[in-house]
Amino acid sequence: MISESTLLDNPDGQLPAAAPTGGPIQSAITYEKIPTHIYADAKDASRAVAQEIADLIRQKQSEGKPCVLGLATGSSPKTVYAELIRMHREEGLSFHNVVSFNLDEYYPMEPDSLQSYWRFMREQLFDHVDIPAGNYHVPDGTLRTDKVAEFAKQYEAEIEAAGGLDFQLLGIGGNGHIGFNEPGSLINSHTRLMMLDNSTRAAASVDFGGLPKTPRKAITMGVSSILGARRVVLLAWGERKAPVIRGAVEGLVTELNPASYLQTHPNALFVIDEAAASELTRMKTPWLVDSVVWDNKMKKKAVTYLSLTLGKPVLKLTDRDYNDNGMSDLLAQYGQAYDINIDVFNQLQHTITGWPGGKPNADDTNRPERALPAHKRCLIFSPHPDDDIISMGGTFQRLRDQGHEVHVGYQTSGNIAVADDEALRFADYVVDFNTKFGIKSPKPPGFSRMQQLPFARKRTPKWTLPRCVT
Ligand code: F6R
Repeated sequence: MISESTLLDNPDGQLPAAAPTGGPIQSAITYEKIPTHIYADAKDASRAVAQEIADLIRQKQSEGKPCVLGLATGSSPKTVYAELIRMHREEGLSFHNVVSFNLDEYYPMEPDSLQSYWRFMREQLFDHVDIPAGNYHVPDGTLRTDKVAEFAKQYEAEIEAAGGLDFQLLGIGGNGHIGFNEPGSLINSHTRLMMLDNSTRAAASVDFGGLPKTPRKAITMGVSSILGARRVVLLAWGERKAPVIRGAVEGLVTELNPASYLQTHPNALFVIDEAAASELTRMKTPWLVDSVVWDNKMKKKAVTYLSLTLGKPVLKLTDRDYNDNGMSDLLAQYGQAYDINIDVFNQLQHTITGWPGGKPNADDTNRPERALPAHKRCLIFSPHPDDDIISMGGTFQRLRDQGHEVHVGYQTSGNIAVADDEALRFADYVVDFNTKFGIKSPKPPGFSRMQQLPFARKRTPKWTLPRCVT
């Protein structure tokens, strides 16, 4: 376990100090057992990580040595790779001395398959920089099963022969996996064939066209291979990663969250965006780690948190509840719980209205929406067609009833939420049903014979669902 003094000595985990803009958010870190840098967004964060990698490559070049990198795939490192490519093109960063070893590869997997990590690395980085072709390594997904153990040993031996990993880049799975070391992996695990967790397969199934087509196994570097790197940087973007990041950074070291093993590494750093940090104590309940400015927003955040944590209505919170839960500061500033409760209750109350577009001729001092102009033009954004109705159908209707002009912007056509094989399965079903009951399928307008062809076939065709052109 990393010691308290290590944390205090190295709170920044060595990335450049906070820049005036675009730098990490600095604040107290009392609960955190791994140095963690939080950035406003993934772009700023990726730039800082790419800069550290570039500095290392250049330093090794000046020493006449190879720079041995452990690399990850997935969505998280893409922005880092893009920045490295930019540095290669615009700043002359050369990769001639880089030797790289990727963390993992699906098994079985042909290197030129769409989902292969070999292909991913070439497309996202290697084909765009001057790394010599023989210098990069990705586990071989084409081996016979009985050859994998021998390959795994050799992979580790090659890393060793190259001088060990100078730098290991990681992403993190929603279940805490690093590489494909799924929960249950031991801290001393080595490179091996690993059964993938169902949640990992479900996340990957989008790329494979459904769960049944998603591989069940992967070859992955082990936890001990990762911990052997001299420097480890883990990336995480988005709210989906927030709970697992909290577990890894603030929780106990446990095989149930393999990323928590990084607490034992003397030179690890988490680089995350604000959304991925949202469950960390310093973000979620900042008043527990430092003094805060008790403005209305912070007051509301703290009191609603207290109410939810204690399972008590806001108006029933007592002075004691405030004192026992690290909010005595707030009490000291505003007097008594009674007044704070009413203030926050009113803040919450004023967000609820039967007049979402504002009530004409009403006093709107405490209303969420202004009274004038009485009739507004509203734009509702809906990630998928139907999210608007599911999440705010009543409000939608009320806006119309109250005479506003309402528009909806659908942010996708919805087609990516339904895999082609699902759509074809249902289309097949309709065709079978109609055939069986002698129902003549109506021909959709402008839907040519060619385009209808796949629907007429009994077996699921291999090609993708054609678009209906009207
Ligand atoms: C990929 C890898 C995985 C991913 C993790 C997060 O080489 O080792 O551990 O880093 O599944 O994936 P993304 O970044 O897509 O969320």
